[in-house]
Amino acid sequence: MYNREKVREYYRNNEVVHNYTATRFTTPLAQVQHRKQVKVVNETIKKYFLDTALELAPGPLRVTTDIMGLKRGCAMDYSENMLKSAAQLLKNHETKAPWSLQRGDAFCLPYKSATFDLIYSFRFIRHFQDTDREKLFAEAWRVLKRDGFLIFDVPNFFTETKIRRKLDPAQLAVYDKLWYRREIINEMKENRFTTLTLSNNINHFDVQVYISRFHKLKLGALARKLIDRIDQYPSEHPYEWVILCQKR
Ligand SMILES: C[S@@+](CC[C@H](N)C(=O)[O-])C[C@H]1O[C@@H](n2cnc3c(N)ncnc32)[C@H](O)[C@@H]1O
Repeated sequence: MYNREKVREYYRNNEVVHNYTATRFTTPLAQVQHRKQVKVVNETIKKYFLDTALELAPGPLRVTTDIMGLKRGCAMDYSENMLKSAAQLLKNHETKAPWSLQRGDAFCLPYKSATFDLIYSFRFIRHFQDTDREKLFAEAWRVLKRDGFLIFDVPNFFTETKIRRKLDPAQLAVYDKLWYRREIINEMKENRFTTLTLSNNINHFDVQVYISRFHKLKLGALARKLIDRIDQYPSEHPYEWVILCQKR
């Protein structure tokens, strides 16, 4: 199946929707990773006094509900099931910014040009091949205001390939683009974005994933603290970067 359709199809599945947060973000390691992604978005909003943001492909609002300081946020996803689950969550939780949910296709955004100060997206852009990513970046560029910002996650080729060698191929159901540092900077340049920062996320994966397993012994809080502390020590090869770039 064509990659774009495959990704849409995969996240339409009810089981994937219901298990999404439960299976992916319960370990201390994933929680530390999540917090760093949120931190980069929140610090950008604060630093540049941003009012409006679009979250592309928010799924069940893992990141959305932790975002602060916006006047208006739009969370746009293709999957009706994901949106249903997201709407339920918005009903039950008070969020720190006013969000509206919308169904749409990231390849053809249902917004006028120059609408948003910021676009961010996690665990989405990485799932597409080069030509599709070009289209995603072109649409993001179009709906961003002048000097607008784009934030997303960039899996590190070096670290991920080492990890993936040990995985069962069934665990790699969806395609992931993995990047070298220089490669992502060049790719963004070719797509009319200047990279401002690449923030390391999970600096010492092997040790941190080991400590993360302590949560099975009901030591989740301690594991999180240790993982956080270890993450203060920089490394050449983090698990991923969170990229902040600006429209040129
Ligand atoms: C891996 S989930 C990411 C969820 C969330 N961003 C996170 O980091 O937890 C990918 C999301 O992309 C959505 N999606 C897939 N294709 C899409 C498209 N063409 N346009 C918009 N959303 C799409 C899926 O419905 C799913 O919610």
